[in-house]
Amino acid sequence: MSPHAPPEHDTDWSRRPVGEVIDHIVDRYHAALRAQLDEVARFVEGIRLTDLVRRPALVAPLLDKLQILGEELTQHMVKEERLAFRMIRAAGGFVGVPLAVMEHEHRLAHELLGDLRVLTGDWTPPAGASSALCGLYELMVAVERDLVEHSAIEDELFARARADSHRKVANG
Ligand SMILES: [Fe+2]
Ligand SMILES: [Fe+2]
Repeated sequence: MSPHAPPEHDTDWSRRPVGEVIDHIVDRYHAALRAQLDEVARFVEGIRLTDLVRRPALVAPLLDKLQILGEELTQHMVKEERLAFRMIRAAGGFVGVPLAVMEHEHRLAHELLGDLRVLTGDWTPPAGASSALCGLYELMVAVERDLVEHSAIEDELFARARADSHRKVANG
């Protein structure tokens, strides 16, 4: 999966079967995000050698926040694939607590991306930035755009799974 896969707007995933939505999330968004995070790590290696020395006040917190974001998103995807999505596919029992954790982590990721936007002036490279820093900023715009789509599809999926779960409990 390319880290620059195009956005899509033509499918209403809220009307598709949950198993199909989960397959789409994993194949499209998790695969792309893992490729994007690998590419971020490659840019960071270059940035450590150049921009970090030239403008530490910007780049040091930038790299710290990117590391936190990368670790959180990587763990979040594993939790979704090993726990949340499996529970939804199994279509039984109470899914509320794990899904609430996933939704909370979506909000944390968006907050972190908001902090990064403030820090970087909406991903505007400073004058004299290296090609690695410029490449990172361009990539992060794509990462953020994908994450907005990705988490919106998941939030709808989780709301649907929660409603299904409540209905099953109510019907015995
Ligand atoms: Fe996800
Ligand atoms: Fe998620």
